[in-house]
Amino acid sequence: MSRFQTERSILQELQFPDWEKRSIRVLVKRDDLIDPFVSGNKWRKLKYIIELALHQQRLGIVTLGGAYSNHLLATAAACEQFGLKSIGLVRGEELTAESNENLQRCAAMGMDLRFISRDEYSERYEKERQEIWKQQHPDYLFVPEGGATYHGLIGCQEIWTEINEPIDHVFVAQGTTTTSCGLLLGSDEKTTVHVVPALKGFDSLEEMRPLLYQFLIDSELVNDYLNRVVIHSEAHFGGYAKATNELIEFIGFCKRTLDLPLDRVYTGKAFYALMKALESEEFDGKTVLFVHTGGLING
Ligand SMILES: Cc1ncc(COP(=O)(O)O)c(C=O)c1O
Repeated sequence: MSRFQTERSILQELQFPDWEKRSIRVLVKRDDLIDPFVSGNKWRKLKYIIELALHQQRLGIVTLGGAYSNHLLATAAACEQFGLKSIGLVRGEELTAESNENLQRCAAMGMDLRFISRDEYSERYEKERQEIWKQQHPDYLFVPEGGATYHGLIGCQEIWTEINEPIDHVFVAQGTTTTSCGLLLGSDEKTTVHVVPALKGFDSLEEMRPLLYQFLIDSELVNDYLNRVVIHSEAHFGGYAKATNELIEFIGFCKRTLDLPLDRVYTGKAFYALMKALESEEFDGKTVLFVHTGGLING
C-alpha cells in the first residue's frame, strides 16, 4: 500500500467576507496534504511514472533539477517508497550533497546526486543530450525536469475525479506546464483554466502547446483547448524564486485569515493572482477552484 494517498487532499472552502457577499465560492484542492515530500502536484505527476518504471523492471529513475527542486525531492522520496533507486542530475558543479537542506534530504532518501555544469544542464530539452543521459544510465527510466511527461499529464488529469461539483474557474501555478495541461485536458469545456507562471517572461501558450499535442495529436484541437486558458503573467514578483515584502505579507495574511499555507515560489504567487482576479465582477456567483500544488517544504 502506497504512503501517498490522494484521500488526504481535502477540498477546503475558504471564508472571506467579500466573496460571501458576492456569492463567490472558493475551493482549494489541498494536494499539499498528500505527503510532506511528495507534495502537491508531485504525486499526481509521479504516480504513473513510478508505475512505468516498475512495469519496465527498471533499477530506478534518473531525473534532473536545480538545487532547490521540489521535483528532485519528490522523486527521491517516491523511489525510496517503491524500492527503486534514484539518480538526480543537479544543476551546478560547485554544489555538494551538503549544500542545502533539500539536497541533504534527497541524499538521505538514497538519491545519488551527480552535479553537472550549467552548460550541460542548459541542454536539458535537447534530444541529443537526453539520449546521452539515457545511455549513461541504461537501467534507469529517464524523466525530464519537473516530471513533464505524458504519464505526468495523465496523473494530473485525475484531480478532476475527486471534484464532484461544477467548477467555473480553476487557478493553478505553472512551471513546466504539466499540471495546468493535465487540468485543462481533464476539465469540463465550460471551465476556464487560469495559469500563473512562476517565471518572468514565460510564454505559457507556447510551452503548453507541445505537451497538449502529445495527447491530442491535432493542432486545431490543441488551439480549441488553449482558447479556454487565461494567463496571469503579472504575478511573478520579479521572477522565479524571487519574493518581495508584498508577497511575503500576502502569504502571512492567507495563513492567518484564510487558514491557507502557501509557498513563495509557486502557490503564493498563483493565489495572489486569484485574489486580484476575483476583484472583477465577472466572478460574482461563480465557483472557483485553486489547486494547491505544494512546495511548502522548500518555500
Ligand atoms: C510547488 C509547485 N507548484 C507548481 C509547480 C509547477 O507545476 P508544473 O511544472 O507542472 O507546471 C511546481 C513545479 O513542478 C511546483 O514545485
